[in-house]
Amino acid sequence: MQQYTRGLAEVGATVYGVGDTHPSQLPASLKRYLADYLRVPKLLDEDDVVNRVHAWMRGREVDRVLANWEVMVLTAARLRERFGVHGMSVDAVRGFRDKQLMKERVAAAGLRVPKAVRVRTTTETREAAAVLGFPLVIKPISGAGSADTYRVDSPQELDQALARMNHVSEASLEEFIEGDEFTYDTVCINGVPAFENVAQYLPKPLIARSVESISPIITTVRDMDQPAIRAGIKLGRGVLQALGMGEGFTHMEWFRKPDGEVVFGEIGCRPGGAHLVDQMNYTCDIDLFREWARAVCWGRFDAPTKRKWNVSIVFKRAKGQGRITKIVGLTEFIRDYGEHVVESRLLPVGTQRRNWKHTLLSDGFLIVRHPDWNTANKLAEIAANDITMYAEQS
Ligand SMILES: Nc1ncnc2c1ncn2[C@@H]1O[C@H](COP(=O)(O)OP(=O)(O)O)[C@@H](O)[C@H]1O
Ligand SMILES: [Mg+2]
Repeated sequence: MQQYTRGLAEVGATVYGVGDTHPSQLPASLKRYLADYLRVPKLLDEDDVVNRVHAWMRGREVDRVLANWEVMVLTAARLRERFGVHGMSVDAVRGFRDKQLMKERVAAAGLRVPKAVRVRTTTETREAAAVLGFPLVIKPISGAGSADTYRVDSPQELDQALARMNHVSEASLEEFIEGDEFTYDTVCINGVPAFENVAQYLPKPLIARSVESISPIITTVRDMDQPAIRAGIKLGRGVLQALGMGEGFTHMEWFRKPDGEVVFGEIGCRPGGAHLVDQMNYTCDIDLFREWARAVCWGRFDAPTKRKWNVSIVFKRAKGQGRITKIVGLTEFIRDYGEHVVESRLLPVGTQRRNWKHTLLSDGFLIVRHPDWNTANKLAEIAANDITMYAEQS
């Protein structure tokens, strides 16, 4: 978020920031890009934030209201409507926030989505499962990061999942799509992509979040003009049209089944997390933080979009609990493959482990890149297998 603020200031915007951090806690590197800052007590209290921001901006001119964090995109849309400024409407943004509405709108445009039903109660869910048939996925209607998301293969497994989902009031029950999983990311101007990206998940996020010993890898695809992903890109463009995309980032997920059919997964009107924007920057050697700002402020995208690299990020998870005590294999990896490493940010020895279920970042990451797809992934696999982090309770 600090980088987007920098980008906005660099393209000439006067930036008013809103957040729940106390102003004295904002880093100097961020403050220099802010004309003013409003601290709100509860960032997720939409009515309260809308009222406070509206009152705060009285007498000042507002041209854009922007949010790049999933849980804030609707608040930003409400503020746009309140101020009467350019940008996506609340209705358009709802299509990117509500997983059921999203699928209905995408399906209405004739695009392939998983068969899905919105469910609120155990009875409703069991009945829907009987109609849809197994295997199924059950997940919160407005979830994120694969939280409370389960694959279920039988009525028994469905009941087990339901028992763990008592705190979820509304869920999507859907056909399980077998196959590879990819992203389709864009920066759009008037709904038309000025920048496009595809990345592959290795393995799929649901598996990466279920098995702690895995070091998940995500790789951006350098060659976008290959048959293997052509249908996915076409699907992505169709989805943007179907949902009435306006300006800014989008982050979509899609599946490629073994028979080649492509199926929509989900989409947000904000950038992907877990350093995906950095990966896209390394793919083209550009600065999307700034180009996004140019696109949303001035309707222009000036950076070259020629893709030079396949960029892999590897997330590491330490063995054991507590503080990181040892990192084995990193020195050797850097010695042997350092020329391909663009970032190495594993948590240093002595720091507390992160909760890998709460953040894909886990205990840190490495980013490697190579012009050849197989080599980039091979490098990432070597980092995944040959570097081991250890933790111990102190
Ligand atoms: N219908 C489906 N078929 C197969 N896998 C699915 C399906 N829906 C979700 N998943 C798996 O669960 C993950 C999380 O679901 P997703 O809809 O992307 O929600 P989130 O907002 O948590 O990312 C996906 O990345 C995918 O691996
Ligand atoms: Mg997802």
